Amino acid sequence: MDRSKILLTVNGEKREFFVEPGAKLIRVLRDNLGLAGAKEGCGTGHCGSCTVILNGKKVKSCVTPIEQANGGEILTIEGLGTPENPHPIQEAFINAGAVQCGFCTPGMILTAKILLDKNPQPTREDIIREFSPNLCRCTGYEPIVKGVQLAAKVLAETENLTKGMGLVGESIPQSNALGKANGTAVYAADIKRANMSCVKILRSPHHHAKILAIDTSAAEKFPGIEIILTARDIPGTNCLGPVVEDQPVMADGVVRFLGEPVAIVVANSERAAEEGLGLIKVRYEQLEAVLDPAAVLEPGTPLVHQKGNLAFSRVLFKGDAEQGFSEADVVLEETFFTPAQEHAYLEPESALAEIDENGRVVVYGGTQAVNYNQREIAKLLGLDLNQVRVVQTTTGGGFGGRIEGLAKYMVALAAFYTRKPARLVFSREESLLVSYKRHPFKVTAKLGATREGKLVALQMDALLDAGAYTSWTPGVVTKSTIHFTGPYVIPNVKFKGQAVFTHKAVSGAMRGYGAPQVQFALECLLDAMAKKLGIDPWQFRYQNLMAEGSITATRQQLDESVSISECMEAVREHYFARKKIIEQENSEQLRLGTNIRKGLGIACTIHGVGKTGYGNYTEAAVQMQRDGSVTIFSGAADIGQGLNTILAQIAATELNQSTENVSVVSSDTLLTPDGDITCASKQSYISGNAVKKAVCELKSRLLKKASEIMNVPIDDLVLTSQGIVDAKNPGQIISCRQLAELVPERITASHDVDVTKLDEKDGQGKPYETYSYGAHLVETQVNMDTGQIKVVEVHAAHDVGKAINPQGVEGQIYGGVVMGLGYALKENYIYGQTKSFRDYKLPKFSDLPEIHTYIIEKPVTSGPFGAKGTGECTINPVAPAIANAVHHATGILSTQLPIRLEVFPAKEGER
Ligand code: FES
Repeated sequence: MDRSKILLTVNGEKREFFVEPGAKLIRVLRDNLGLAGAKEGCGTGHCGSCTVILNGKKVKSCVTPIEQANGGEILTIEGLGTPENPHPIQEAFINAGAVQCGFCTPGMILTAKILLDKNPQPTREDIIREFSPNLCRCTGYEPIVKGVQLAAKVLAETENLTKGMGLVGESIPQSNALGKANGTAVYAADIKRANMSCVKILRSPHHHAKILAIDTSAAEKFPGIEIILTARDIPGTNCLGPVVEDQPVMADGVVRFLGEPVAIVVANSERAAEEGLGLIKVRYEQLEAVLDPAAVLEPGTPLVHQKGNLAFSRVLFKGDAEQGFSEADVVLEETFFTPAQEHAYLEPESALAEIDENGRVVVYGGTQAVNYNQREIAKLLGLDLNQVRVVQTTTGGGFGGRIEGLAKYMVALAAFYTRKPARLVFSREESLLVSYKRHPFKVTAKLGATREGKLVALQMDALLDAGAYTSWTPGVVTKSTIHFTGPYVIPNVKFKGQAVFTHKAVSGAMRGYGAPQVQFALECLLDAMAKKLGIDPWQFRYQNLMAEGSITATRQQLDESVSISECMEAVREHYFARKKIIEQENSEQLRLGTNIRKGLGIACTIHGVGKTGYGNYTEAAVQMQRDGSVTIFSGAADIGQGLNTILAQIAATELNQSTENVSVVSSDTLLTPDGDITCASKQSYISGNAVKKAVCELKSRLLKKASEIMNVPIDDLVLTSQGIVDAKNPGQIISCRQLAELVPERITASHDVDVTKLDEKDGQGKPYETYSYGAHLVETQVNMDTGQIKVVEVHAAHDVGKAINPQGVEGQIYGGVVMGLGYALKENYIYGQTKSFRDYKLPKFSDLPEIHTYIIEKPVTSGPFGAKGTGECTINPVAPAIANAVHHATGILSTQLPIRLEVFPAKEGER
C-alpha cells in the first residue's frame, strides 16, 4: 500500500513522516511519534481516553483519520506540562483527587484545557456538558468536576496549592498521580521493545463445541508468522484457577464459551498476526449450549463439565426460620434478578513478556496480584517460581477483574517459545467477550416481621450463574451467604446458595463479590415490609440494626467498631426533612396532573474486610536509605485506589517523617515480598498492618542502636524529622542521613488475620476479624409517562474505622456510588451481543448526581491506626437505595436490575 506524506505540528514541533492511508491519528501519535499519553480504551471513540487537541478543538484520536489532521497543530498531554513543570490543570487534578487509575486522565485534562480556555469560570453544568463524551470508571466523576473547579481557581490565581506532612488522617494526592497526569505513567500497551512480537488469539465462535481438528499449516507459512501455539504446546499445566484448576488457558478438545482461546499466533507485526489468525482452520462439532442457569440442574441437561453442572453450593442456618415465620405477623416473599456486570476498566487487558539475561521469563502487565500471577505462569510453563518474574505496570482499573492473567499467560507462552519479547493488547470487543463478569443472580427472598417492626425470620435461595469455569465462584457464594442478612439482627435465618456452570463467559470477582446481589434483594424487601407495616423505612431499619455485642448470621459476636447506627444517623436529618417536602410536592404534582414524581430511598450495608475465612497472609518490608529517606517494599498492587500513598502515610506517621521522605517499591516479584492479592477491601487493613509492623521494628532497632551510641536511655530518645534526638539534650542528635548506618538491613514483617472457615453443614464460623458499614440515601425523579429515572442526589455515609487518607476514601465512595448507579439503571451485559461501549451503557458525566459523603470513623483495634476497608462496601447499597427511591416515588417495587423503563407501563395497575 502506498504511504502518504503527513505534516504535523505536534506540541510545537514540526514533524514529517509517511503513513498508510486511513491510519488513525492515535496510532501515528503512539507508533510513529512515541507519544503514549493518548490511550486506546475502546477504539470506537466512546471512552475519550484518546482525546487530543487538533487545531484548537478536542478530537478522539482513535477514530480520527490521519488525513484529517494533515497540516494541523496538535496538542497532546505531553505538550501541556512536564514532570518537572506540570501545567496548573495537571496539578489541580492531582490535588483534587481526580486521578485514580489514570487511564482516562490525559483525555480529561485536555478536555479541561479546552473548556477553561474558552470559559475560565465554568459552572458545574458547563463542566458536565463539556465532559459528557469522556468516560471514567474509577472516580465517580465528582473529583474530576472538583479538579476543573480547582484548576479554574488556580489559573485565576485565587487559590494556591499547599502541601502538608501527609501523615495518617491528612488528605494528600496519590503519590503516583503526576505521571498519570502528564502522560508518562507506563501501562502495558505503552511498553515497546526492539524486535518485539505481536500476539493475537484465535477464539471460539461457538458457545459449546468439540474441537475436531486444528490445521495451522497455511498460517505457519504466512510471511511474518513466528509460531502458532495450541493447548498441546503448553509445557506445564493448561488448566489454572484460583480455587479449582479447571479453566484451560487454551481450549483442549472442547470449547465451553464464546471467545474461549483456541490458539495463539505470534508474528513480527500486527498485520501478519491478523492474517495468520484468518488462515488457521478449526473443525468444530457444535454441541448444545447450556445458557439458562435455571435449567442447568434439570435431569438430561447437557453437562458443562463431566463432574456435573453444580459449581459450588453452601447453606447457612441460624435459629429456626420456619418457627420464625410462624411467629411473624407479616411475611413477604419476592424473587429478584440481577444481571452480569462488566468491570469495564478502561485499560483493556494488555501484557508484554520477555526473557531476561538470566533466562527468566519476565511478564509486565496491569494486575491486582503479581505473586498469584507468578505462581500461575510458573505452573503454565512448567518452571520454578524463580524462573518467572511478574512486574505490575500502571494499572488502568481492576475492581476484581484483573486478578487472573488472561493476557499475561499468552505473552508468557509466546516469549517462552520464541525467546523474544512479545506483546498482546486486547481490543475492547475481546475484553468484553472474555473478561470475568459479576455473577448474575436469581434470589428468592422471604422476610418475616412482627407488627411492631421487629425482624424475626429471613430465608434466601440464591442461584448464581458461574459461567463456564469456577474462577472465584466458591468465594462469591460464601460472601453472599455471610452478607445476606445485611447489618440487621434477625434471629432465625436460612440461606442456600447454588452456583451452576453455563456455557458463558466466566463469572469472577467483582467489587462487592456477591454482597450487592443479596443485599439488593434484602433491602428492597425491607422497604416493602416497612410499607406493609406502615413504618417509616429509615425507622424500620434503625430499630433492627446490629450493634456491639450483636451476633451475626454465622454466630460471630461483633465486639467493636459496629457503626451502622452512626451511618444511619448521619443521613437522618436530611432524610426526614426531604421526605416531608417530597411528599408534599408529589401530592401537588398529582393534583396538577403532571408526570414527575420524586422519591427517597435508603439502604444499608455490612461488608467483611479481607478474604473470607482464610489466607490473608501478607508481607511488607522497610529499609532506611543512606540519604535518610525510607523505602517500603510491598507486593500489594496499587490499582488506582491509592494504596501506595496509604502505605507511605502509615510509615511516615510511625517514623514522624513527611510522606515525601517515603518511597514505595511495589508489585515486582523479584523485588517485593508477597503482598497477596489486592481484593476484598483488604490491603489498607492487612498490608497496612504489615507495613506498620515492619516500620515499628525499624524504629525500635534504630532507637536501641542510638541509645547505645549516644549512651542515653531509649525512653529519652525521640525520632523526629531531623533524626534521633535526646529529649533532655536536644543538641545531641543522630541525623536522618546517619540512620541507615545504624540499621542498614531490610526488615520484613508479615500479617494475617484470626478467622475460621465456615462450617459446611450450617455455615457457622468467624469469617472476618472486622466489618465495614454504610448507609445510602438516594433521591430520584421519575417520569411516570416514560419511566425515565434520574438520580438527583446521593448521601453516602461509610464507616472506615480510620480514614488514613480522607480524600482517597471519598474517591472510593464517589467511584462506588457511580458504579452502583450503573448497576441499578444502565449496565446489562448480554452474552454474545455486547461488543462495545455503544452496546454496554456505562454511567456518564451527564448521569452524575450530587453526591454528599459522610466519613464515619469508629476505629477497630486490629486495624492500622484503626483503619478498615472501603472499596467494596461503597457499591453494595446503591442499587437498592435507588430501587427504594423509585418505590417511594411510584409505589412499584423493583425486582430486577437494571431497573427497566418498560417495567412502569407494564405494572401500571399495581400502583
Ligand atoms: Fe478514570 Fe481510572 S481514573 S478510568
